[in-house]
Amino acid sequence: MRKVEFIDIPNLEKARLRKHNADTIFFSFNPSKEALIYFKNKKYFIRTYGCQSNIRDEETMSGILDKLGMIKTYNENEADVAILNTCAVRENAEDKVFGQIGDFKKIKEQNKKLILLICGCMIEQKHIIDKILSTFPYVDIMFGTHNIKDLVLLLSNYIDNNIRYVDVSSYEGDIIEDLPVKRLETYKAFVNITYGCNNFCSYCIVPYTRGKERSRSEEEILKECEELVKKGYKEITLLGQNVDAYGKDLKNGSTFARLLDKVASLNVPRVRFLTSYPSDFKDEVIDVIAKHSNIMKFIHLPVQSGSNSILKTMNRRYTREEYLELVNKIKNKIPSMEFSTDIIVGFPNESYEEFLDTVSLAREVHYTSAFTFIYSPRVGTPAAKMKDNVTYEEKVKRFKELVKELEIDFNFYAQRMVGNTYEVLVEEVSKKNKNLLSGYTENNKVVHFKGDKSLIGNIVKVKILENHLYSLIGEIVNE
Ligand code: 5AD
Ligand code: SF4
Repeated sequence: MRKVEFIDIPNLEKARLRKHNADTIFFSFNPSKEALIYFKNKKYFIRTYGCQSNIRDEETMSGILDKLGMIKTYNENEADVAILNTCAVRENAEDKVFGQIGDFKKIKEQNKKLILLICGCMIEQKHIIDKILSTFPYVDIMFGTHNIKDLVLLLSNYIDNNIRYVDVSSYEGDIIEDLPVKRLETYKAFVNITYGCNNFCSYCIVPYTRGKERSRSEEEILKECEELVKKGYKEITLLGQNVDAYGKDLKNGSTFARLLDKVASLNVPRVRFLTSYPSDFKDEVIDVIAKHSNIMKFIHLPVQSGSNSILKTMNRRYTREEYLELVNKIKNKIPSMEFSTDIIVGFPNESYEEFLDTVSLAREVHYTSAFTFIYSPRVGTPAAKMKDNVTYEEKVKRFKELVKELEIDFNFYAQRMVGNTYEVLVEEVSKKNKNLLSGYTENNKVVHFKGDKSLIGNIVKVKILENHLYSLIGEIVNE
């Protein structure tokens, strides 16, 4: 057995505390001479699973490793350092990661010097660490979401001592500023405004893996946004588990509405934000969205369920009626507004009638897109302790029924776009067809169309020709 040094180990009890105020710490980069020499021009590979917060973490880790003189590769077979940045939100996300760790066995055999690291939300759970330690002896380092700032130190320790390291701090978390960043995209950027979550929805592991809800200062957020605008970024997405809670902890008058107003006042063509929490969504935010044409008229507003009894056991702090009232209030003020959502099907003991409440809510809102999930029990959350009288087969049946219902609206609204012209931010050469470009409309629909690569990064006018339900085909129009 290889020796393991536990610098810190995860602890669910500590992870759920909400006592301390977050400190702001400024990142300092001081690698040892040996590390600078060892890692110079070596290659690193990162594979990220899960949400935008994880993608943003990959950008931070890439920034740190670039600073160390390393070079990013997208081919795991040629990597000297490989990082799997994991997601714990559902079991199938975890299963994918275990499969990928398994695939690394061969790569490790061929390249004994490869350093394999696992980080992200999965690693915040003690039972996962135990499983990886015993099942995958070739995993070298595991570190948590709060420990990214120590990446270089962990790598240095590893090359000095050649033992396995586990460094996962379960605590409420701080704000780390001045972290290096290498962005994955050249025209679209994510900017964290809050970290962590205080909501403790009864099914969700995130408040345990990412710590307390804490807001960055307006000054730091605006500094980051201004730099992005200077570099020519066309779209900024303000990121937080609950953006509507922004500023609560700062106690200096900062609110999400004020922040959004300031960001939209910068010279950036597109502003988005993710994720909104229904009962924290303030009227002032609606006014700010209405005031700025560069705030996209598309809101992701997770409902999770349309049944009041299920919402209550989920510990969501709103009723079906309040959710619908909010949607209608927004639609009345901004008639062009479109909504997407997250829905969980098959929460423990959900009756068929309760499920139908979700279907009827979806029919009322008319979502133009949605993410639907089958409930997945997460160790340590209150819902995972509940007995469940719904079979998995029944959950799958309900899931399919809901998707069918949702697709009626998706299709109706996509079809309505055909023949009309929309602004599209051109992002890349289409992954499926090299002769086409791809980009997103204001209402977040992906469109494929013919055009010259030089258009990437520009906003162009595209007439929609065909509706393929989850994507559209169009042609550029010159006006
Ligand atoms: N099971 C299924 N879906 C979940 N989500 C969060 N936790 C779970 C779980 N245990 C979904 C919620 C959330 C989205 C990011 O993931 O819908 O909004
Ligand atoms: Fe999880 Fe609820 Fe927080 Fe979203 S708001 S991250 S679902 S606890």
